[in-house]
Amino acid sequence: MSLIDKLNWRYATKKFDANKKISPQQLAELLAAVQLAPSSAGLQPYRIIIVSDPEVKAKLRDAAKGQQQLTTASHVVVFAAETNLDEAYVKRYIDLIAETRGMDRTLLEAFETNIIHNVNSKTEDVKITWNHKQAYIALGVLLSAAADLNIDACPMEGFEPGKFDEILGLRELGLTTSVIAPIGFRAEDDHLSKAKKVRRPTEELFIHI
Ligand SMILES: Cc1cc2nc3c(=O)[nH]c(=O)nc-3n(C[C@H](O)[C@H](O)[C@H](O)COP(=O)(O)O)c2cc1C
Repeated sequence: MSLIDKLNWRYATKKFDANKKISPQQLAELLAAVQLAPSSAGLQPYRIIIVSDPEVKAKLRDAAKGQQQLTTASHVVVFAAETNLDEAYVKRYIDLIAETRGMDRTLLEAFETNIIHNVNSKTEDVKITWNHKQAYIALGVLLSAAADLNIDACPMEGFEPGKFDEILGLRELGLTTSVIAPIGFRAEDDHLSKAKKVRRPTEELFIHI
């Protein structure tokens, strides 16, 4: 299948086959793709929680308007933005670059100062919004990678973030829920799996200048 075929194959799955589970290997491959998602300055100001515990999934469903994807999916992937993006966070990131690339850390000081200035110039609200945006890029990578691996997914915003934070203990970790994606395999009777894609016409969506 070509990339376009795969993107046509995927759809926001409304009902998963609860008996079909994603194997550890498939999950590892999917998460490896998500780990490679780009982010502004490479900060990756989010963490990703993978829920497979049925009791936790049931609690999350109750905080997501009872949507059945939460309990029929094999796993629920929760993207959570960092709430404490500060100088210490940036310094740890610069340490990671120096270590990963075997670089002299002093060569990264200008880059570090630049990012710290950028981070400090934002209000807390703007910073958290920025972090949520980065998490959505990771969601986009997950959706495409899942399609490539024949895994179904449903991107979802229809839930109460405060309740998710509470159920998953995210506040203690300096995190808050951005967006979620139940993942698994479509149920045979999910009527939307056969529905035609509805997208804005090419001439309307794209503006060539
Ligand atoms: C950010 C985001 C939030 C969404 N929230 C929900 C949701 O809460 N429940 C749901 O069933 N679908 C949700 N969707 C799925 C969209 O309705 C779906 O992606 C869109 O209609 C396009 O259809 P397709 O993904 O099947 O091609 C969401 C999609 C995105 C990208």
